[in-house]
This record gives sequence, structure tokens and C-alpha cells, in this order.
Amino acid sequence: MDRRQFEKIRSVFDRSGIALTLSDLTRPDQPLVLANPKFLSMTGYPEAEILGRNCRFLQRDGDNLEERAEIRQAMAAGREVQAVLRNFRRDGSEFNNLLFLHPIGPPGAPTHYLGSQFILRMAWGSEPQAMAHVDTLLHDMTRIGVQAERLEMEQRRHLAEATAVLIRAWERRR
Ligand code: FNR
Repeated sequence: MDRRQFEKIRSVFDRSGIALTLSDLTRPDQPLVLANPKFLSMTGYPEAEILGRNCRFLQRDGDNLEERAEIRQAMAAGREVQAVLRNFRRDGSEFNNLLFLHPIGPPGAPTHYLGSQFILRMAWGSEPQAMAHVDTLLHDMTRIGVQAERLEMEQRRHLAEATAVLIRAWERRR
């Protein structure tokens, strides 16, 4: 990724109302290279404590094993993926993180991943807000240039459907 694209991503991230992160897959253990203000306020970490680290620092050891395997598989194949992960803020408080991951770079061989985090709250009421999150995410990705504008509506339908299925499954498990 060249400097220009990185700065473009940073400017979209800085202005976004949703949590956004960027990981570099060309570096060992896929460290975070960008985290926006919304992500920092959601998790309670200052930027200096998290850049350069893999985003799994939000988890506790031994947690989310199935979800992590699914994420690793999807990332190895260069695919997008969504999962609900048990995470902890800097102050130790727990939250359920609905994580969206999207590849950036050549198809099938991404150099980066864009991550977006949404807090799932009670057993009801999260779905409409999650759908609004999906809209903002796709809009931001279009502005970055990761998502073609002409495909945005199609991708919206697909991502909204996948997200609804995931939330309902999560609600049933609780
Ligand atoms: C992640 N990951 C992640 N995990 C998590 O618990 N909370 C989070 O907010 C995020 N955010 C995030 C953003 C981006 C851009 C990437 C690429 C990944 C997932 C985490 O880093 C890791 O991929 C998974 O835990 C699966 O790998 P491991 O831990 O089993 O090696």
C-alpha cells in the first residue's frame, strides 16, 4: 500500500462514526497500523499502547476458539468474515464484539485487513443498530476505494443478511 492510500484510509477513519482498524498482513503477526478515535474510546486504550500489536490483545487466553479458527481460515483465503468475540476493555470490563473483517489489496492476496467493531448489547434490539453499522461501514469502504460504488447495494444486502444470521445465532446461544 502506498503512502497516498494509507493517508486516504486515515482520513476516512478519523471522520468515521464507527470503530475502524487496519492491520498489516505483510508484517509478522499482522499488527494494527491504524485505529480510529471511535475504536480507542470503545476499548479505552490510547493509540500508543496498541499500534504494532495484533488485535487479539482484546481477548482473554483460551476464549473464542471457534471464532478465531474461522477468522484465521478466512484471512488465509483472503476472504471477508464476521464473528462475535468476547473482548475486554482496558479497564477490564467485558463486551461482545461483532467484528467485521475485509481484505484490502489484490484479490486473493490481500496486504491489509480492515476491521470494524460493533458492540452487541442485550438479547434484543441490536439488529437495527447493527444494520446501520453495516451501512456506514460500506459507505466508508467505498470512500476508501476498497468497495466499488456500483457493488455497494449488492454487498449491503449480502452483509446485512450474514450479520442478521450471526446476531440471531448469538442471541440463541446466550
Ligand atoms: C482483528 N481481530 C480482532 N480480535 C478481537 O478479539 N477483537 C478485535 O477488535 C479484533 N479486530 C481485528 C481487526 C483486524 C483488522 C484484524 C485483521 C483482526 C482478530 C485477531 O487479530 C485475530 O485475527 C484472531 O484472534 C484470530 O487469530 P488468532 O488469535 O487465533 O491467531
